[in-house]
Amino acid sequence: MDASSASQADAQIDATAALEYWSSIPPSNDGVLGGYPQVSRVDLQGSTTFLAKLRRKSSRYPPGKLLERTVDTGAGIGRVTGGFLGKIAEKVDIVEPVVQLTDVVTKGDTFAELRSKGRIGEIYNVGLEDWTPTHTYPLIWNQWCLGQLKDAALLEYFQRITKFLQPDGWIVVKENMSTDLEGLDIFDEVDSSVTRTDKKFRALFQEAGLKIVATELQKGLPKELYPVRSYALQPV
Ligand SMILES: C[S@@+](CC[C@H](N)C(=O)[O-])C[C@H]1O[C@@H](n2cnc3c(N)ncnc32)[C@H](O)[C@@H]1O
Repeated sequence: MDASSASQADAQIDATAALEYWSSIPPSNDGVLGGYPQVSRVDLQGSTTFLAKLRRKSSRYPPGKLLERTVDTGAGIGRVTGGFLGKIAEKVDIVEPVVQLTDVVTKGDTFAELRSKGRIGEIYNVGLEDWTPTHTYPLIWNQWCLGQLKDAALLEYFQRITKFLQPDGWIVVKENMSTDLEGLDIFDEVDSSVTRTDKKFRALFQEAGLKIVATELQKGLPKELYPVRSYALQPV
């Protein structure tokens, strides 16, 4: 199937409007999580467990040792880096187009310890559509940001970053799932993003040459929010 044919929701994405929105939010969990800061704890716990399960089955990256390097994409204020990735990797790179948000990581007190230990790596202040990694990674973590890219750009992004994945490493996608009754992606005009269906994600992964090696739904989120699914991907 042509992954872009299932819906036209992504045609409405306007990157300028998106960046205007993300530049206007308070640089806090409340801001990056759209008024639901309380989901952060359960989310980070779920991610920690998801990765631990992957590593238990991995001969190259078994548990018990820090990964050499990882990257937090669409990182916002580094919520995922501070609460999860900074604990499982020696160095975390950050991709985030809004400088006011990465200022929290580069200048804020909450990241002083990680910074002083040299655990914060590169800060790439660009959108994912314009990011070409300058390192390779055993883990590329993409959370709550891929809806900012149109389908074609997302496909191209997956193909690009796959070249920077170390052998037996994982690209993780953790995103909201569309609950549209007709099975369509949903456009969100607040941040000019799309919420994709599980089916759309799977079609895009397949087209990009990625296979799902593990997937699970995040437990414990408020009922009124979209379901959130994590996928661990490897090249076919
Ligand atoms: C919902 S927040 C999530 C932040 C972080 N991933 C987290 O889970 O806390 C979405 C983030 O995507 C960023 N963003 C917007 N457009 C982007 C793009 N084209 N590429 C990468 N990130 C983008 C926003 O600036 C914002 O920080």
